[in-house]
Amino acid sequence: MKTILVTGSNGLLGQKIIYALRNKAGVRCIATAIGPNRMTVKDGYVYEPLDITDKEHIQKIVSEYKPDVIINTAALTNVDACETKKSEAIQLNVEAVQSFIDIIREEEKKNPQKKIHFIHISTDFVFDGENGPYVETDEPNPLSFYAQSKYDGELLVQKSGIDWTIIRTIIIYGVVDDNSRSNVVLWAKNALEKKQTITVINDQYRSPTLAEDLADACVSAAMKGVKGIYHVSGRETMCILDMVKIVADFFHLDPSFIKPVSSEELKQPAKRPPVTGFIITKAIRDLGFHPHTFMEGLSVVKDKLEKMK
Ligand SMILES: NC(=O)c1ccc[n+]([C@@H]2O[C@H](COP(=O)([O-])OP(=O)(O)OC[C@H]3O[C@@H](n4cnc5c(N)ncnc54)[C@H](OP(=O)(O)O)[C@@H]3O)[C@@H](O)[C@H]2O)c1
Repeated sequence: MKTILVTGSNGLLGQKIIYALRNKAGVRCIATAIGPNRMTVKDGYVYEPLDITDKEHIQKIVSEYKPDVIINTAALTNVDACETKKSEAIQLNVEAVQSFIDIIREEEKKNPQKKIHFIHISTDFVFDGENGPYVETDEPNPLSFYAQSKYDGELLVQKSGIDWTIIRTIIIYGVVDDNSRSNVVLWAKNALEKKQTITVINDQYRSPTLAEDLADACVSAAMKGVKGIYHVSGRETMCILDMVKIVADFFHLDPSFIKPVSSEELKQPAKRPPVTGFIITKAIRDLGFHPHTFMEGLSVVKDKLEKMK
């Protein structure tokens, strides 16, 4: 029996990982998140409230459940908010990572026979976007506070001496149970349904990643025990403007409300890399990763929204 503890289980990726793990043969799944559990399905796993900035509480939960694997999805993920909430970004994206490393080391000292595998989620934003698509060995050069905080978290993991995996990903889309979190697909769909004009960036290129696909890659890393850095994203790299046009087309919405804008005109608070995208060969080989196409992913989103009606 493998005990897998997941942080941020109310988040988009966190929820999908819990759905992939609950009732999985040979797995005991411990979901943790800040405050009450917001997932609709509450069986097949254990839920524990856990604020990852509370080191003593992490220690207590780790001593109690003795996980074999910890998947850390919790983070301050709002890129622009990180520019103003710098101390919160450091607490969540850097210091909390160090807390997990310290606690894992202490647990391993107490019981040297038992290793704890730490799987940490990171981002394409560690790169400056000048030479995408990227492989795992490319040199990061973060442009924003969010990106720097995520990269600092990565460096702590890489130097930790514990068993680790870093899974970097790009623009995650999907639907959470209470529909409380937005992402590029839902934002565009909701605005266009209300016939609101949206300004969409026309000079940044990304590979959108279906949350369910990413969750499967995280579960595969946990089950196979693979270590190192993995790039996990959808296969198609496209301009964000094209992504939104595809969403409009897929959901039969009027594209005339989409107004293209350049990065220079939009002046987002945090600087973004122009072209990312990943080469995912390593994830395909080691994790058995086979992502949906963007069109297939939109069908998954549509089905989930229909089931929630
Ligand atoms: N979203 C993307 O496009 C994207 C792209 C590249 C990389 N990533 C990385 O992928 C990971 C997962 O992203 P996501 O889209 O699933 O993010 P998300 O939906 O924002 O989930 C993050 C979760 O962290 C939780 N959290 C915040 N503070 C916490 C704390 N102190 N203790 C415990 N949990 C806390 C949030 O709780 P509440 O729900 O209660 O606020 C949220 O549920 C992150 O590491 C992110 O950096 C995301």
